[in-house]
Amino acid sequence: MAKIFNAIIVAIIVCCLKCSDGSVCISEDACNCQINANSRIDLKQISPNVLFDSDSSGNSFYFWGCRDGTQNITVNGTVKPFTGSLIWANATEGKPLGFSKEIRFNLHDEKEKFYEIVYKDGENVKASVHLVCTLEDTFIKILIANSTNPQLALGSPHACVITEKSGLSTGSVLLLIFFISFGAYFVGGILILYFMRGARGLETIPNVDFWRSLPGLVKDGIIFLFSGCSASSITTPETYDRI
Ligand SMILES: *[C@@H]1O[C@H](CO)[C@@H](O)[C@H](O)[C@H]1NC(C)=O
Ligand SMILES: *[C@@H]1O[C@H](CO)[C@@H](O)[C@H](O)[C@H]1NC(C)=O
Ligand SMILES: *[C@@H]1O[C@H](CO)[C@@H](O)[C@H](O)[C@H]1NC(C)=O
Ligand SMILES: *[C@@H]1O[C@H](CO)[C@@H](O)[C@H](O)[C@H]1NC(C)=O
Repeated sequence: MAKIFNAIIVAIIVCCLKCSDGSVCISEDACNCQINANSRIDLKQISPNVLFDSDSSGNSFYFWGCRDGTQNITVNGTVKPFTGSLIWANATEGKPLGFSKEIRFNLHDEKEKFYEIVYKDGENVKASVHLVCTLEDTFIKILIANSTNPQLALGSPHACVITEKSGLSTGSVLLLIFFISFGAYFVGGILILYFMRGARGLETIPNVDFWRSLPGLVKDGIIFLFSGCSASSITTPETYDRI
């Protein structure tokens, strides 16, 4: 019986350690990643329109979120359609920097729990977009406008980590496990004593002597506490036995 209890306690501890490791965001698709059982990031509703930013050297970035969109851009005097999730252009050239199928979620800053999405072509990172949780505004901002590996920041309420309350808190789950184990201990113990030892009546209760003495022990404990911890106050048969 003790071995089963040990196994259950070890299982609970392992489970708790696993659940609290909530830093990595595992990509589920282009829009979603799962941090742990209760928290995730969902970029699906970022913006119905393309987000745009440009800098003083003439670099323009068009961001469609976690989907691919088509943008008509004037490059070198002619209007051209460009399709992608992140598109870069200047006055003479333009190209898609990344597609939605290349999006991966990353923990950018371990300490600050700062996430980013990167466009990955194999192991090669083509562009990074840092996720900045904002209250209202949705925007894209150029941090480093390099057409080979640019860094951008996406500010959006939809870039925040969503934390959902699960139906049961860890505490109540532990309590539930405790009571279930307790019930299993009694039922299992009674069955074993009844069928294997041939016990009948009260004798089928596992450790019946302990449970019988429990009210007395509790009473002793309380009297002991309230009498200023003096041993002479305890007057049950057990204390006489000890003396
Ligand atoms: C881009 O240009 C084409 C041809 O001029 C046009 O049919 C299309 O609707 C335009 N798309 C957008 C998103 O403006
Ligand atoms: C831009 O257009 C000019 C002529 O209009 C052409 O000579 C040049 O090669 C073009 N540049 C690019 C990068 O397409
Ligand atoms: C556009 O970008 C290309 C490649 O980075 C560069 O060679 C070109 O000079 C840029 N054109 C302008 C007008 O900045
Ligand atoms: C872009 O990045 C590459 C490599 O990361 C670097 O060699 C290059 O100088 C950068 N260009 C600009 C304009 O920052």
